[in-house]
Amino acid sequence: MKAFIFDLDGVIVFTDKFHYQAWKKMADEMGIYFDETINNRLRGVSRSESLEIILERYEGPALSKEKKAELMESKNNTYRELLASMTPADVTEDVRRTLAELHNRGYKLALGSSSKNAKFILEKVQLLDAFDAISDGTNITKSKPDPEVFLRAAEFLGEKPEDCYVVEDAYAGIDAAKSAGMQAVGIGIAAGYAAADVKIQSFGELLTLGA
Ligand code: G6P
Ligand code: MG
Repeated sequence: MKAFIFDLDGVIVFTDKFHYQAWKKMADEMGIYFDETINNRLRGVSRSESLEIILERYEGPALSKEKKAELMESKNNTYRELLASMTPADVTEDVRRTLAELHNRGYKLALGSSSKNAKFILEKVQLLDAFDAISDGTNITKSKPDPEVFLRAAEFLGEKPEDCYVVEDAYAGIDAAKSAGMQAVGIGIAAGYAAADVKIQSFGELLTLGA
């Protein structure tokens, strides 16, 4: 194996809780039931697909395209306000040390995130330099479980898919990694997903893979 491709939200940083809070605010304002179980379906899924999942429980009059765009913009504004409070202290020592050590061992590292806010977040926590390549919501047309974001990451690194590990907390991300022909490592919720090739409880366990 030559490279590691990392999901961002819920793997490198815990911005998944901010996504939840921002969608929850929108859902509450619209009287839509939304909880953490539904939120788990949004992991790895694009902003527009996330909105459609939340609207499955919406009972009001049909929403125009413009109204949906407005809802996504307002959710993103709330999310960005929550992100504004982030600092380098929001990345654990375990994550920082493990990324540096994998790099020392000669592995290439890439980000593979569906988020359009990925670079902004990496800047806030000062991790932009930790990655050799970034594939995110700004360079894809289809989000996970489609493999596009990971295939682009491997391409940016100049590595073959079969030489890449993908580290993911989302079921959709594990499915995307498998479709890409990569080795899928499940962490967090995805550590309980049967389709993951490897399951880890802590980020530092990656060092046992990249030995
Ligand atoms: C990640 C998160 C999803 C989020 C998506 C788009 O994949 O896991 O929950 O919907 O990124 O994020 P964005 O920041 O572009 O709204
Ligand atoms: Mg994630």
